[in-house]
Amino acid sequence: MENNKKTWSGRFNEPVSELVERYTASISFDHRLATYDIQGSLAHAAMLANQGIISNDDLAAIEQGLAQILDEVRNNQFIWLQELEDVHLNIEKRLTALVGDAGKRLHTGRSRNDQVATDIRLYLRASIDQIIDLIKAMQQALLDLAELHTNTILPGFTHLQVAQPVSFGHHLMAYFEMLKRDVGRLSDCRKRVNQLPLGAAALAGTSYPIDRELVAQKLNFEGICDNSLDAVSDRDFAIEFCACASLIMTHLSRMSEEFILWMNPSFGFIELADRFCTGSSIMPQKKNPDVPELVRGKTGRINGHLVALLTLMKAQPLAYNKDNQEDKEPLFDTVDTLVDTLRIYADMLTGVRVNQEAMRQAAMRGFATATDLADYLTKKGVPFRDAHEIVAKTVQFAEQKNCDLSDLELTELQKFSPQIEDNIFAILTLEGAIKSRNHTGGTAPEQVHAAIEKAKKWLSGSL
Ligand code: ARG
Repeated sequence: MENNKKTWSGRFNEPVSELVERYTASISFDHRLATYDIQGSLAHAAMLANQGIISNDDLAAIEQGLAQILDEVRNNQFIWLQELEDVHLNIEKRLTALVGDAGKRLHTGRSRNDQVATDIRLYLRASIDQIIDLIKAMQQALLDLAELHTNTILPGFTHLQVAQPVSFGHHLMAYFEMLKRDVGRLSDCRKRVNQLPLGAAALAGTSYPIDRELVAQKLNFEGICDNSLDAVSDRDFAIEFCACASLIMTHLSRMSEEFILWMNPSFGFIELADRFCTGSSIMPQKKNPDVPELVRGKTGRINGHLVALLTLMKAQPLAYNKDNQEDKEPLFDTVDTLVDTLRIYADMLTGVRVNQEAMRQAAMRGFATATDLADYLTKKGVPFRDAHEIVAKTVQFAEQKNCDLSDLELTELQKFSPQIEDNIFAILTLEGAIKSRNHTGGTAPEQVHAAIEKAKKWLSGSL
């Protein structure tokens, strides 16, 4: 035990109880910051030597010791001890065991407060980069599917009632747009994550002649946190990331909800590959869309993490408080959940089987081209409100006859408006309806192709 005596224990007369030790320790979860902690320590030590605060011999010993520790961590050989509280003290203790006094000099001009803030920022920066790559892979999968379906028609809904026909490609590209904004948000958040806290020390800075710019440069930070109190205490960058994550999950949850509906035999629009579904232990006929359901469910968990971090922060006086130790588990779980969800989604999209006939039939059933008939009349001089009324009556008539507008005879249509001519039938078809919405952002196949081309350019970085 003497060997593992707490770094701060000289002042204390009695050890903490086992329960308090366990309660206050973070090693069970923060050990995953180890590689970032080492990275930060190497930059800090190099700066100390450069400034003449420690000797070059000490630096060499620290570098050698940390290299060995990194090896041990990577090979799962490092023994994490709860009595050493957290990742920082575990590594420092091991370093000192390996290289002696040089290890004890590493913490000169630094505190765990600026150290942990640096570790989280390094971790989060790497996570953001990984997540952006995964979003882009998913966007590529959406694009590939959309490209096959610029002429596949399904009913577009408002209020979950058939509204107007759209192409499946257009529908998929809506999600591409959402994810594109998500990438934008993450990239913006990254700039604020990518600032160096080290040098703030415990809260007020340090009396050693440190060079923070040098440390920032070594760790590839874009800048340094300009106020030491702020640097060690605020976790707004993590909250901001969690807000981005909530929005990403919200988008994926919306898509999941649609997949679940579309898998229902009453829709029957799509089938997911079997590997994303499970059966029921009692009902042999079932094929359940478990993966989309879980994505929808896990969105609640991610939203919960955002609220947890906001609540964690809201009443903290400056500067560092131990409350902040609670930032890690929600943050780690947000990253892990998001990474898995995005991976699974990109894979799932490649296995979507589309039932074009079911989509078409659904679009036919709901008088999806009624607006087109109204627009037709309006273009012939009938005021839109009157055209709306004429079409409402025509729809009522077709409903009684149990047929689509396009199945009515010309003479029947003309009873509702003499302005209707033979050319109406091209307009009442689903194809005619989507083709006519031919402007930027519209569902006409030509426009969806253009949107896909633009999206490809964006993905390749040339836009
Ligand atoms: N494990 C701590 C955390 O996660 C590290 C910083 C502790 N600082 C302190 N003064 N106790 O926030």
